[in-house]
Amino acid sequence: MPLLLAFDDEAAPAQRLLAALNTAAAGATEPWTLAFVQRHRFPDGEWRLRLPPELPAEVALYRSLHQPNEKLVELLLAAPAARELGARRLWLVAPYLAYMRQDAAFSPGEVVSQRHVGRWLAAAFDGLITVDPHLHRVATLAEAVPVAEAHALSAAPLLGALAAQRRPGALLLGPDEESAQWVRQAADAAGLPAAVARKVRRGDREVEVELPALDVRGRAVVILDDMASTGRTVARAAAALRAAGAASVDVAVTHALFVGDALAAMQAADVGEVWSTDSVPHASNAVALAPLLAAALQRSVRSFQISGNSTTSSILRK
Ligand code: R5P
Repeated sequence: MPLLLAFDDEAAPAQRLLAALNTAAAGATEPWTLAFVQRHRFPDGEWRLRLPPELPAEVALYRSLHQPNEKLVELLLAAPAARELGARRLWLVAPYLAYMRQDAAFSPGEVVSQRHVGRWLAAAFDGLITVDPHLHRVATLAEAVPVAEAHALSAAPLLGALAAQRRPGALLLGPDEESAQWVRQAADAAGLPAAVARKVRRGDREVEVELPALDVRGRAVVILDDMASTGRTVARAAAALRAAGAASVDVAVTHALFVGDALAAMQAADVGEVWSTDSVPHASNAVALAPLLAAALQRSVRSFQISGNSTTSSILRK
């Protein structure tokens, strides 16, 4: 019986994934069960983790990697321990995959975090399922995280459908060139018009957004992106749209990181509603990812069983 392993601070999304895994829609053949990794923090800050002492062959670990630094240590401890305890194939289900934006050295000596975090994860897991990873200069998830089964799902069609439902006929606007991939998918799925702006980033909170040449006067616009972190990209785009006469500006993002005063900055720019997926728990969550994740995990498990990918992955693990 396959096992979903999760951490107590993500019990709610893990429960939703478990329920979705055990539906015919996801292609369930045998029931999944759910167990939690128990954590104890020692006074000096180190973790003691405890997994169920006997694990089945198929194990998927659920960990969304927002606020990633401590979680990466947890994964680096839990994954090899899971193999010692009986797991033969190990998946990571990480709806938000961290460290994907640092995909190049922008100055001499700068660490390409994407490459190194990708290699850690590939050494620890056989399969990875994630949603809208920030792939820009690196084209595929398998290049960034070279696991045997690498699945990058997209929530863009779901967000597009939601935008079309809440703001029929709205213009979808991607705030920068990286967002073109998600905006295109959302627009195709929802039958909405789309455009992409240009962004120049000068610092963590200093960005400039230049709108494409088109008339937005009186139009409802939904800014769509993979994530909002400080919210400055969205805020600058929203301010420019309002100045250009947009009737309303709402926001749809896959990953609601919204750090610090992000929401306040967006509100100050006259953003209306904000919709996100539940990859990162937030009050703006409007799209549940569990059905998408469950179907992909079931497919990936079957693919391993049919192709015997475990040989490839055991080579990758060395
Ligand atoms: C980067 O290109 C991403 O797609 C987002 O646009 C970016 O991470 C948003 O960051 P912030 O909210 O801090 O402007």
